[in-house]
Amino acid sequence: MTRPPARIPGRRLLHSPGPTPIPDAVLQAMSAQPMDLADPRVDANIAVCERGLQRLLQTEAADVFLYAANGHGAWEAAVENLAAPGELVLIPGTGHFSESWAVQTEALGRTVVRTPWREGWPIDPDAVEQVLRDDKARAIKAVFAVHTDTASGVTSDIGAIRRAIDAARHPALLVADVVASLGATPFAMDELGVDVALGASQKGLMCPPGVAFVGVNAAAFAAAQRNAAPRFYWDWIRRKHDISYRKFCGTPPQNLLLGMEAALGLIFAEGLETVWRRHAQIARAVHAAVEGWREGGALDFFARDGASRSVAVTTVALADGIDVEALRSLARERFQVAIAGGLGPLTGRVLRIGHLGDCNPAIILGAIGGIEAALVALGVAVGNGGTRRAVQSLACD
Ligand SMILES: Cc1ncc(COP(=O)(O)O)c(C=O)c1O
Repeated sequence: MTRPPARIPGRRLLHSPGPTPIPDAVLQAMSAQPMDLADPRVDANIAVCERGLQRLLQTEAADVFLYAANGHGAWEAAVENLAAPGELVLIPGTGHFSESWAVQTEALGRTVVRTPWREGWPIDPDAVEQVLRDDKARAIKAVFAVHTDTASGVTSDIGAIRRAIDAARHPALLVADVVASLGATPFAMDELGVDVALGASQKGLMCPPGVAFVGVNAAAFAAAQRNAAPRFYWDWIRRKHDISYRKFCGTPPQNLLLGMEAALGLIFAEGLETVWRRHAQIARAVHAAVEGWREGGALDFFARDGASRSVAVTTVALADGIDVEALRSLARERFQVAIAGGLGPLTGRVLRIGHLGDCNPAIILGAIGGIEAALVALGVAVGNGGTRRAVQSLACD
């Protein structure tokens, strides 16, 4: 293995779909000495994060609980609070992330009912409705739906899942994983009828990994109160507390929370709608590039339907014989663009371009140009219009 160079000239562009680049203001906010736990700044910082996340989730009805954890921690919190061992949850197929959540849920002793994953397509709400109609005993406690599956690059319609639950007249709670979509695409927890929304710090929130959060409405909180299964660290009842130490079930991750306060401040200063529009515009540029590349016949969109293509991550299907790991290392080491490969069943079959969080037109053009250069250097047929189309998309948008 060749040794990486001691110094990278300029800046390497990070286009994995999480962790994402961290704005300087967030890095600076985290660069602070820890505070003693009785310092009122600790409480004030946590309160700003809780309120900011409520605003980001667009909820007035839900409490926000924060964890020193990653997204898997937030998944575990939903499982532990909403179903007892042996009880059922429905996890509609979205690909790698729905399946990972299902495997974790089963490992915790709960029973998972799945709807099939249709490669390249969002969740099928009719399949969800059918499963719920067939559940005559009303045994399914919750539907765990991944909003954007970061592996497939497909965003599902959470409102359609709420309508499916209602059409089946089923009491199951709706839990949405917004790990990859929050802060990138519109999501309004209360309006969508979502009972629990869960996320993590390292994607649209532009923070380092290490903070997970859940928004929990009254129905979900009541379900947790009824659930007698033993739990401690993830327990919402225990975390609904005025004292910061109790809210975190221990010492809060102070520096990460200082970063989160700064990141939320950046998002609201830019304006949430402007942030969503920027993500959509940048995604259109990436999609324009892929439209150009696919003319070479070796690459294509993994998401079959343009309307469900994520604004946060684009998954590009590769023809057989393209070595995605060679492509990634060429892009990273020679052209200074870090991209992601496939996960789970898509390993070796796709590349993924993250375009969420702290991104702008110049950055995305640099990334697209670097990826195209890597494709050309590897001898992949990419037509000759990918980067040009991205430029046109941004120029005319
Ligand atoms: C949609 C989605 N859910 C959950 C997770 C798990 O998050 P983490 O890796 O922080 O545990 C990820 C991670 O990428 C994700 O993309």
